[in-house]
Amino acid sequence: MEDLDKLKSDLSALIVGAADLAGLEAARIEALGRNGRITQLLKGLGQMDAEARREAGQKFNVLKNEIGAALDARKAQLEDSTIDARLAAEKIDITLPPRSQRSGRIHPISQTMDEVIAIFGEMGFTVAEGPDIEEDWYNFTALNIPPEHPARQNHDTFYLDAEKNGAPLLLRTHTSPVQIRTMQNTKPPLRIIAPGRTYRCDHDATHSPMFHQVEGLVIDEATHMGHLKGCLVDFCRAFFGIDDLPVRFRPSYFPFTEPSAEVDIGCSFAGGTLTIGAGEGWLEILGSGMVNPKVLENCGIDSTKYQGFAFGMGIERIAMLKYGIPDLRTFYESDVRWLNHYGFAALDVPSLVGRARP
Ligand code: PHE
Repeated sequence: MEDLDKLKSDLSALIVGAADLAGLEAARIEALGRNGRITQLLKGLGQMDAEARREAGQKFNVLKNEIGAALDARKAQLEDSTIDARLAAEKIDITLPPRSQRSGRIHPISQTMDEVIAIFGEMGFTVAEGPDIEEDWYNFTALNIPPEHPARQNHDTFYLDAEKNGAPLLLRTHTSPVQIRTMQNTKPPLRIIAPGRTYRCDHDATHSPMFHQVEGLVIDEATHMGHLKGCLVDFCRAFFGIDDLPVRFRPSYFPFTEPSAEVDIGCSFAGGTLTIGAGEGWLEILGSGMVNPKVLENCGIDSTKYQGFAFGMGIERIAMLKYGIPDLRTFYESDVRWLNHYGFAALDVPSLVGRARP
């Protein structure tokens, strides 16, 4: 008969040495499986006489119970350590400082465009668009600027190396060609604004070869100069957020409007600082006028029946004035520090009145 002490220590070593539950199951089969070592012992009892069987039977059962208890204990241990390992692996160190989140900023040009669109949107204007690459006829001729007209020289036009309808294509020098495209494509009454890029061959602290304008056009049967004035005074006051902002209409000349007026807002330059809405000074911010009947006729609109007004303003200029940005060229330098300083938080909704800087 086997040495029970040796058998017990062999099986105990197997159980304690099991590295995982599969190893432990192998140890259980070795000891108590159908052909296990202890099972074999118990089967042998049948061949013994009654006296020896009782004695051996007791010892074998003690051994069987001890090994069973050792298996249970090791199983509990292995299960605990599996859970411990998972807990360790899935631990989140909540004492770690969070990674800082960088948020982008809205460029002052986009912000200002959105504000202008919101204000005119409230007045019932819709947004119209036209191409940056324009034909001579839309940019000049239809706007009553024929080839020999001196205004052409003032526009410092970028011409392209391509022609259409017998004239070179160009980068539009203002958003006014959108007036023509709109009047050709839509029957009056009309009430649109056209924000977009414009181009002139010019570069210094107040001029950039690419800049932005917003055009406005109202056409119907009864609109007169009083509507032009009311609309633009309301716009200036809403945009700068100053209810009693002084607004002045100064006679001017544009080939496509008659009469024409430039619009100035009141300001002070006292002590070298510009304050909008106070003092004796004036700053020009936009051009306007009643649409020239020749322009209406160029677009196939009966000028004895329809009339209206148009205006155009530089976005950079009004952004610089509203937000105190000193140099036009910085708008296009893509300097993140500049954008962090002058930019706007992404979720700010443009409001109709002057808004606090975030
Ligand atoms: N297009 C003119 C400019 O660029 C502005 C303007 C638009 C003036 C509409 C009158 C009417 O200066």
